[in-house]
Amino acid sequence: MESQNIKDKLNQAIELIRNSSHTTAFTGAGVSVESGIPPFRGENGLWSKIDPVFLDTLYFYKYPEKSWRLIKEIFYDSFRKAKPNDAHYALAELGNKGFLDVVITQNIDNLHQQAGSKKVIEFHGTSQRLVCTNCGRQYGITEELLSILPPKCINCSSILKPDFVFFGEPIPEPARSHSLNEAKIADVFILIGTTGEVQPASMIPIIAKNNGTRIIEINIEDSKYTDSITDVFLKGKATEMMLNLLKI
Ligand code: APR
Repeated sequence: MESQNIKDKLNQAIELIRNSSHTTAFTGAGVSVESGIPPFRGENGLWSKIDPVFLDTLYFYKYPEKSWRLIKEIFYDSFRKAKPNDAHYALAELGNKGFLDVVITQNIDNLHQQAGSKKVIEFHGTSQRLVCTNCGRQYGITEELLSILPPKCINCSSILKPDFVFFGEPIPEPARSHSLNEAKIADVFILIGTTGEVQPASMIPIIAKNNGTRIIEINIEDSKYTDSITDVFLKGKATEMMLNLLKI
């Protein structure tokens, strides 16, 4: 029964994507779990082990060295080993086949780009760049730059910050307005691996739904979206479900 049920749902999802003139993926930490990057919440979640305060702007500016030590350990030392998984590659392939237009990601791990997705909106910024907290000069990540913490600007010697959104910071433009535009024009959203708990990112699929967008959701368990806006819930791992959708 279960396998027939999932087969029917996969066929429904494939039908929706086939008939869609603009499809957008909206991904969260769950899409990178099978690349070895732990999620923030749920079982083995990062926030169950470490207090997220180190990613609060006030804490970062007050204790830059302590904050940077954790940032480096969590987002650089561990990310460096992470490679795109079959879900990232399947999304890129869906794009190459003309069935996916844009990926909006809450993730900062750059794995969608590494897998070949061309149009990626990084709603929370990226770990791949550092930016000077004073003069705004941008830097690509290098071992040397991260060898002394906190890293300093060669221009003005001020502290550098990762170019991703800290708690208390606004969503960067143009990511914010481009995401709101996707919520306006997309026929289908494919939500992958997100709890739907963190504002304002979590509003994007809701705005899309209110605009008549059909919602396909892939998750290993229910999220805040499942019983509220999801039309087709594909319960399972991102890699497994995305490889099935690739049979489109
Ligand atoms: N396949 C699919 N979904 C998965 C998998 C998997 N293999 N593993 C975990 N998940 C799901 C979990 O069930 C959960 O719904 O991924 C989600 C991970 O939830 P979070 O860790 O809360 O990630 P996310 O929703 O992206 O968090 C949003 O919170 O801390 C901030 O900025 C951070 O971008 C992050 C934001």
